Order: sequence, then structure tokens, then C-alpha cells
Amino acid sequence: MHREKLEVAAKELLKNDPTGHDIYHSMRVYNLAKEIAKKEGWQFDDDILFAIAMLHDAGHERSIRTGDKYRYKHMEYSAEIAKRVLAEVGFPEQKIPVVLQGILQHDQTKPWGLANRIPTDIKEILLIQDADNLEAIGILGMVRVLVFNIQAGTPLYKPELSLTKDLEKSRLESAIHNLIWHLSLGDNLNTKAAKKMVQERKIQARNFLDQFLKEWNGRTD
Ligand SMILES: [Fe+2]
Ligand SMILES: [Fe+2]
Repeated sequence: MHREKLEVAAKELLKNDPTGHDIYHSMRVYNLAKEIAKKEGWQFDDDILFAIAMLHDAGHERSIRTGDKYRYKHMEYSAEIAKRVLAEVGFPEQKIPVVLQGILQHDQTKPWGLANRIPTDIKEILLIQDADNLEAIGILGMVRVLVFNIQAGTPLYKPELSLTKDLEKSRLESAIHNLIWHLSLGDNLNTKAAKKMVQERKIQARNFLDQFLKEWNGRTD
């Protein structure tokens, strides 16, 4: 019962998201996390996995509204919103702390998540981290990253900046640099299954980038 209510609440919270952090992203994160668990042979608590997936990005809207351009605070905002929503839908009380921890830690493999970097061996959290990172890589991932950058007002591309060096600095300078930087998230995956799944996504992303640069430079070969 709380599951249906939670899904309805998540749909409402995410309905106006303009940057690919919508209910469809939450659903894909949930499904990807389950697929990874199956491949790893991991047992997990489905209530916890579902709740983290549904609400992990609910704070984006507040980030946009409060001028947090790169959404560095969205995990904290999501956790605050989740605390309220989980109580409202009657989510099992004893499972709420781990859901909140998972929401706070879902971005911890990214630089802005370092403040929250607490080693965890909680399977549901490791699964969500991998699923969320996979969502930023590949064709769909690239479209999401591009839309995010457009929304943040980042220029499309700055050819004067290296595509291989100092990406930590240049990732906020152009959407294409940001795209390339996001591929590095594939090096920080927790599970063998996700490491395997990211390979095809990286190939697709590289092909896209090669073609983009070819066309940018006016090459026809
Ligand atoms: Fe997030
Ligand atoms: Fe996400």
C-alpha cells in the first residue's frame, strides 16, 4: 500500500522536472539497480531500493528554485523531502534511516558528493549508486547531460580547452567537456555487473563524441 502511495507522491514531486531527473529516470534507476542485483546474485530489500530510487532526485526542483545551479545540494533537499513523504505514505519506520542515508549518498562518487563520502557496504545504496551513474553514460545519458547543461546555461563547446586534460576544471565550461567528464563516472562503479554494462554505453558515447568533433571541425572523411 505504501508503495503505491509513494509512487504517486514521487510522480507529483518530479512532474515538472526539465532536466531528465524525472519519474522515468527514477523508474530506470530502480530497474537498473534490480538488474545489477540479479546479475550479482545479491539479496536486497525491495522497499528500501524502491524508495531510494523514487525520491533520490526529488530535491532538484528546490535546487533550481534556490539558485543551486549545479544542484550540489539536491541530495540534502531530497532527503528532507523524503523524510516527510515517507512518513505521509506510511513507509515502515525502521527502514526510513537507510533510505535517507541512500538518498544522501547516491551522488557520493561524484565530486560534489565527497562531503558525504562515508564508506558503505549497504547493498541497496551500492546498487543505486551504480544504476544512477549508468544513467549518465550512453546515448540516453548523453542526452540527459546535454539537457542539464542547456538548462544550467553552459555553452555547447569550447574547442580551445583540452578534451583530455584538466577535465575536473573544464567540466563546467562546456556541455561537451561535461559529457566527457561524465564518462569517468564509469570508472567508479561498485559492482562487476555495472562495470560490464557500462562498456557498451561508453562505446556509444565515444562514437557520438567522435562524430560531433568531426562535424564541428568540418571533416567529411
Ligand atoms: Fe542525483
Ligand atoms: Fe539520479
